[in-house]
Amino acid sequence: MKIAIDGPAGSGKSTIAKQIANNLNITYIDTGAMYRAITLYCLNNQISEDNLEMIKNALHEINLEFINNIIFMNDLDVSLEIRSPLVTNNVSNYAKISIIREFLQEKQKMIAEEQSVIMDGRDIGTVVLKDADIKIFLTATVEERARRRLKDLSGDGYEMDINILIEEIRRRDEIDSTRLHSPLMKAEDAIEIDTSKMTIEEVVETIEDLIRRG
Ligand code: DC
Repeated sequence: MKIAIDGPAGSGKSTIAKQIANNLNITYIDTGAMYRAITLYCLNNQISEDNLEMIKNALHEINLEFINNIIFMNDLDVSLEIRSPLVTNNVSNYAKISIIREFLQEKQKMIAEEQSVIMDGRDIGTVVLKDADIKIFLTATVEERARRRLKDLSGDGYEMDINILIEEIRRRDEIDSTRLHSPLMKAEDAIEIDTSKMTIEEVVETIEDLIRRG
């Protein structure tokens, strides 16, 4: 079984996908974490987004693995570092680079060939799992998405101003949906769910119901 979940930042994709993966006992792949890990590597090694030659070399040096929903980059658990505001504010600029996208899309397709998966991201329904059994496109108002981010960030120990978060999310949406290579877009055959006024449980139930009905 292949389930694709796409949507903008803070629409609830990862929380919801994780729960569904758990309930259905299938693998969850957070593709945003992979773009974040590459961004972290580039920032740590002072590789700017316009240095395609160095990015190309870096991709040969990076080994990404998910073990129990934890992302490892070259055998190091980077799950906390990839959520830092520095990575968050830079990731869209690296995620628009074609060689990075092609490298990760290839990897994601290979992971999905081997097992049943639920994958979340921006281009899962349109590119990575074009043949998914079910495609969901989650949305929510920018204010609600910023509130959710604020809560997540404070759980991770980062304090932020909601208005700054709203601006950052808007900027990220703009870059993600206007880039040339596989932009954030609802697949034609995806089902859109506005989660602004829904609880996590309600969204999970709605999607599981859709899966059951095939
Ligand atoms: O879902 P997230 O916030 O962790 O994603 C981080 C960034 O990675 C986001 O700005 C867009 C990019 N991304 C992407 O371009 N394609 C994906 N499949 C997943 C994420």
